Amino acid sequence: MQANPFTYGNPISDPARFFGRRREIEQIFSRLRNAEFESSSVVGEYRTGKTSLFKYLSHPSVIKAQGLDPRRFVFLYDDLGMLSKATTPTRFWQRLLRKISRKVGEPGLKAIAREAGKAKTIDTYTLADFFDIVDEQGWHVILLLDEFENVTKSPAFGPDFFTGLRSLAIHRPLALITSSRRELIDLCHSKEVSSSPFFNIFANINLRLFTPEEAQELISKSLQGTGVAFTPTERTALFQVSGYHPFFLQAACHFLFEAHVKGLAEAERRRFWRKEFEEEATPHFKQYWGNSDDGEKILLTVLALLERKGQTTDRHFGVDELNELYSRSEVTLIGLEKRGLLLGQDDRYRLFSTVFGRWIIREMTDTAGDEQTFEAWLASSKSSLDRFSSKARSEVAEILSKIGSQYRDLVINWLADPRNIAAAIGLLRAALNV
Ligand SMILES: Nc1ncnc2c1ncn2[C@@H]1O[C@H](COP(=O)(O)OP(=O)(O)OP(=O)(O)O)[C@@H](O)[C@H]1O
Ligand SMILES: [Mg+2]
Repeated sequence: MQANPFTYGNPISDPARFFGRRREIEQIFSRLRNAEFESSSVVGEYRTGKTSLFKYLSHPSVIKAQGLDPRRFVFLYDDLGMLSKATTPTRFWQRLLRKISRKVGEPGLKAIAREAGKAKTIDTYTLADFFDIVDEQGWHVILLLDEFENVTKSPAFGPDFFTGLRSLAIHRPLALITSSRRELIDLCHSKEVSSSPFFNIFANINLRLFTPEEAQELISKSLQGTGVAFTPTERTALFQVSGYHPFFLQAACHFLFEAHVKGLAEAERRRFWRKEFEEEATPHFKQYWGNSDDGEKILLTVLALLERKGQTTDRHFGVDELNELYSRSEVTLIGLEKRGLLLGQDDRYRLFSTVFGRWIIREMTDTAGDEQTFEAWLASSKSSLDRFSSKARSEVAEILSKIGSQYRDLVINWLADPRNIAAAIGLLRAALNV
């Protein structure tokens, strides 16, 4: 069978198969090219392409094309997902120094890195001495530290470690490029670490969704030479379902490509790729949802309900309308857009994927696993409805009967604080057929 040009499990390692992210790449390299040799912190939700970006940045052909000499600028990738609770700063440096020694071509420096990596304890002085030699020889080291939150969250890495690392990054030819799911400062094991000046050496670079142009380019270039063409209707459907999200777009395209290769007719293709996509996407939706706080869950639900109600054809909703329905919409929107869960356009927003919207409603209304009947729950939770007027109380109770028990408090908290409770109740009733 013909090789599928769309892949969605492992990070992209071939630069020819890496798309978009031009602005982010330029920003990172321009900070490395300037005299200060500056660090960057890449922040992106799960599966937004952090590791793929790191593989791309550290590819010799890319480094060269960016005007840096790969023999002088040593890019070292390390996956910190493997870091355990027992990993100490010394162990961290031993590993990196060994990697440096393997990577550099200059024999003298190779031996020095190997020797430094053998030391029983590695402190900032040892490292400063080592990077002084790196400097004398005209080398530069760039550490690409993937999933760096594993370091900031580990109590084994105290404030001293970060102070030392900061000083090396400022005064020696060492630059850091970290990746994390959220901003590092929010992912620290203690206040002492999060208040460290370490974090101000970085420029934050957010990996969001692709632009529509980047997504189109990914499809067109990947299909080149395969003999397969997606119809304009299929492209539109792909974007509705995957919303310019790198991972979901690759997954959706993967199944649509497979349907074409199988020789299925248009309607069968549609059924095939959508079903496969939904199965693949569901665990990831669960993870995004599970990592959302209550405010984010409420706003995601509001958008899913609005979409279900089918109010607009372009599925976008304005900030004012959202604020009416949930009073904290404006602040919540910013975080969700950064996480790539929403698409924004001129102050109007929609969920990144129609399938995600449908999943949210199924999740919220799933009562199958409930241990108590709704009536028993209501009898034991009557007081939680006291805050509503008597008219609203019966409407809220009716709505709650359609909501899974684990989400009833969430809905109560939402409805207890709206700008316009009638609008919020009206939306829930219309979308849930209450
Ligand atoms: N720039 C890109 N071009 C093409 N495909 C991409 C790109 N970035 C990400 N992808 C797609 O998204 C998938 C996930 O990418 P990747 O593993 O790099 O994300 P990640 O942010 O490191 O994920 P995790 O948080 O799970 O570590 C890849 O397998 C690929 O299908
Ligand atoms: Mg990764």
